[in-house]
Formats: sequence, structure tokens, C-alpha cells
Amino acid sequence: MSRDPSADSRISAEDIRRRKGGVPIVCLTAYTYPVARLLDPHVDLLLVGDSVAMVLHGHATTLGASLEMMIAHGQAVMRGSAKACIVVDMPAGSYEASPAQAAASARRIVGETGCQAVKLEGGVDMASRIAAIAAEGIPVMGHIGLQPQSVEKDGGYKIKGRTEDNIAALLSDAEAVEQAGAFSVVIEGTMEAVAAKLTHHISIPTIGIGASADCDGQILVIDDMVGLTIDRVPKFVKEYADLRSAIADAAARYAAEVRSRAFPGPDHVFTTAPGKDKT
Ligand code: KIV
Repeated sequence: MSRDPSADSRISAEDIRRRKGGVPIVCLTAYTYPVARLLDPHVDLLLVGDSVAMVLHGHATTLGASLEMMIAHGQAVMRGSAKACIVVDMPAGSYEASPAQAAASARRIVGETGCQAVKLEGGVDMASRIAAIAAEGIPVMGHIGLQPQSVEKDGGYKIKGRTEDNIAALLSDAEAVEQAGAFSVVIEGTMEAVAAKLTHHISIPTIGIGASADCDGQILVIDDMVGLTIDRVPKFVKEYADLRSAIADAAARYAAEVRSRAFPGPDHVFTTAPGKDKT
């Protein structure tokens, strides 16, 4: 089926920005064409997250994502969606060096995928990168709190907002991202009360993950949400389906039927008997 990726029929970054304080913004990650097709009718925003490096490619951290990887998955998600605002993550190494590097990478992502916006991690330290991308007319989503691209530096996945100093730093990060021109900001892995405070402190929508129900929207990694994650499922994930069991069960039944020659059966082979063939 061919999709019409017409920009006019899609939810724009500006539409998302205007949803501050309104009906919560529904976001999920998506990395592939079929999953984008399934999710598009139900969500406001799909994030082609750099979590793709871990979820689909088996890397230990999101540092395994490359610009080429993000662009290829961004193109697949664009082909599979018609309505959602598509945001593509800027991978580690594609924006930190300078505002000029950030702007060039963002231009490439938008130019090669047609996505509505890009996302990058960082607060005060990355405000100049957000401003440089926004100055190109490219909408930017921020990402503060727990920043997966920094987990090696941080010594692991550490929940933020536990100390007064860190709360003050988070407030500065939220303000910096807003003032740099981001249209919204992800708050990840942050104490509930602090995420709520950040949400009420800034005028752009906050999208929570392991944060607070007070955030202006919520996001989960799709594989976590449908029960496909094999190893560690974070505390903040709610599994709405159990695809691990469904796939394992299907594989076990298929294996048994192949070994017993029950598959393929008469309905799954081509014969000359009239009325039996199907294409
Ligand atoms: O890469 C990702 O999936 C993300 C979300 C967890 C927000 O950044």
C-alpha cells in the first residue's frame, strides 16, 4: 500500500507545542514500517528513538546508533505513517561538537527522511545546539533528566531529581531548552514530584517517561510496551501485551508441525485439484 506522506495532513511540531496543559499527548517509539502503520492511527507523535540501537540492533547502549541507522529507520517510519508527528533522534556524536555540526546533522536527517522534527539530549550544555537547529527552521525536541547517551559517563541508569542541587540543575536545563527554542521536551527517569514541578515551570509540553502523570504527554519504547523486551524491563514500563509469549508459542508450534510434517498442510501447497489453489 502506498502512503501519502503529505506534510499538511500530519500533526506538526507546532500542533504539539500548542497542546501544553491540554489533553495528554500520546507518544510511542517506532522503528519500522509495519509497526508505524499499526501505531499511526492511535498516537499523536512517533519517535524514531536512538533506542533502536539496543531494541532492534542488540547494542548494549544507545551509543551504537549512527546517523545512517537513524535515517534508514526514519524513512521506514515515514513510509508507514500518515498522521503522526515524526521525530527522529540525533545519535550521539552527531551534534555535540558544535552548533554548526548540530545544524548540519539535523538538516541531513530532515532532508533525507522528511520527518517533522529532531530530538537531542542535553540541557544548559546543549542549548546552543538546539538554538542552531531551530534557527534553520527545524523543530527540536529536548531531552532532560536521565539521558541514555550519557549512562556510561554517569555510571549507569540513575534516576534524577533526588538532591536539591540536581533539582536546581534540572530547572536550569528545562529553562535553557525552552529558551533555546525547543517545541517540547522529554523528561526521562526523574523523581515524580520534580517532573511535575518542571512541567508547571515551563511553557512547552513535557513528555514523560519514568517521570509523572502530570507531564503534558507520555512516551514508552514500543517493544517494552508490547512485552517484546527480553532482558531488563524498567520499573516505569507498563506491558499492555505479551508478545514474548505469543512469538515463543508460535515458534514452538511451527517447529513441532514442521518436524511432524503437519506443516505445510493441504491449504498451504499448490495442487492441480480444482478450487484448491490460492495465490
Ligand atoms: O531513544 C528513545 O527511545 C528515547 C525515548 C526513551 C524517549 O529517547
